[in-house]
Amino acid sequence: MNFPDNFLWGASTSAFQVEGAWHEDGKWMSVADFNSLRRSAVQADSRVASDFYHHWEEDIDLMADLGLKIYRFSIAWTRIIPDGEGETNQAGIDFYNKVINRLVEKGIQPFVTLYHFDLPYALVENYDGWLSRKTVYAFEKFARVCFESFGDRVKYWQIINEQNLMVRVNERMNIETDDSHEADRMRAQMDYHMCLAHALAMKACHELVPGGMAGPAVSSTCTYPLTNNPKDVYAAKMNDCFKTRYLLDMHFHGKYPGYYMRYLKELGIALEMLEGDEEILRHGKPDYIAFNYYRTLCASYLPADEEHPRGTRRYRRNEVDFDQFGYCQDEVNENLKASEYGAQIDPLGLRMVLLDYYERYRVPLLITENGLGMADVEADGKIHDSYRIDYLREHIKACGDAINDGVELMGYAMWSFIDLLSSHQGFRKRYGLVYVDRTDMDLKTLRRIPKDSYYWYKKVIASNGTDLG
Ligand code: BG6
Repeated sequence: MNFPDNFLWGASTSAFQVEGAWHEDGKWMSVADFNSLRRSAVQADSRVASDFYHHWEEDIDLMADLGLKIYRFSIAWTRIIPDGEGETNQAGIDFYNKVINRLVEKGIQPFVTLYHFDLPYALVENYDGWLSRKTVYAFEKFARVCFESFGDRVKYWQIINEQNLMVRVNERMNIETDDSHEADRMRAQMDYHMCLAHALAMKACHELVPGGMAGPAVSSTCTYPLTNNPKDVYAAKMNDCFKTRYLLDMHFHGKYPGYYMRYLKELGIALEMLEGDEEILRHGKPDYIAFNYYRTLCASYLPADEEHPRGTRRYRRNEVDFDQFGYCQDEVNENLKASEYGAQIDPLGLRMVLLDYYERYRVPLLITENGLGMADVEADGKIHDSYRIDYLREHIKACGDAINDGVELMGYAMWSFIDLLSSHQGFRKRYGLVYVDRTDMDLKTLRRIPKDSYYWYKKVIASNGTDLG
């Protein structure tokens, strides 16, 4: 494996999934808190999560011992500007200053995401969240505060985590209507507003952070056709277009591709686009593409008919998922093994995504999430997670292959550094290299225990990817 000497070996987390202290030192509620608190009776929530807010020193020491070159984490907007748009909260700035300073002191580069599913809830109450342009300008303000406060030490920024996936999940966008056409109209307008917010933040980063680089962190997709019937092939291609490429194209070219505009027109959705937007969107061009990769998808063609007319698709996981043309149906790929939680594991798919994005956009790439969620078991202070090591090893090999293919890959940050609140399945589904002694309903000791995968990854980093065990 030929990993370059400056390859950025890393690990990732996000604010609401690790920090806890959801209401401490001036922080207010975010959409992520709101959704997680709704599930409090049955699973862990963001009130304590992994309690990073009170364990950050110990956790960063573990990162340093592991040899991390980068730590990718997010800043909670509601810690910095609790109501989303008003006064800045000095206690929030102080917290992230402490974290960033300690990382830098330990030789770990901070890679910061500005927005990881945690829109301030006050913006939902006041403006219907991303439906309003006011949220766009509130985000720009928040981004500027972060660049001004931390930009002297943080050079790498991801503006929005998985915008392309987030817009498809109604609860993350606070879309509550049962009218699916109205839901799609709202979704499309919110998505567009987030593109404006992305572009304004990119511009601000270039103005305020000397030597700063910024980009999106997209949820990558690679969809295989179920058969070689051209209709299945087309459905698989359009699945990738509508789930990921439309957004990357918007960021790179400042406008949506034709197929996406056609879809909106045919569904009778007219986006509110104002004069001056084109100029704003021109600034959205990313300096690099960060992306998250867990699995590949498989799809077949599904004709729109009376039972499945266009514009009535549902956004449920692990179910028939109609795509924008009403043409695309999720399938199980018989050639791949699925994880305990249903993700179709596919290291070669990662190599294909790397090649695809690099060929299309010719900017450096960075993997910001890749990992395996499992119900790990602790016994006598040890966690033997050989399945996670196998998963990570094969995906890292795929990165090495892509580098040898000529892809400019800056780094690989696995998900996640420490066990954290899964975005939907609480604390039972663990991704960490470090175990946290708690369960969904019992906080226990919150003690940190490095898993076998931690020691394995330490060797990978120390050998710059030549010793994969
Ligand atoms: C990504 C998110 O989509 O997937 C993370 O950026 C999330 O926040 C990760 O935790 C894994 O998904 P889940 O649902 O298993 O937590």
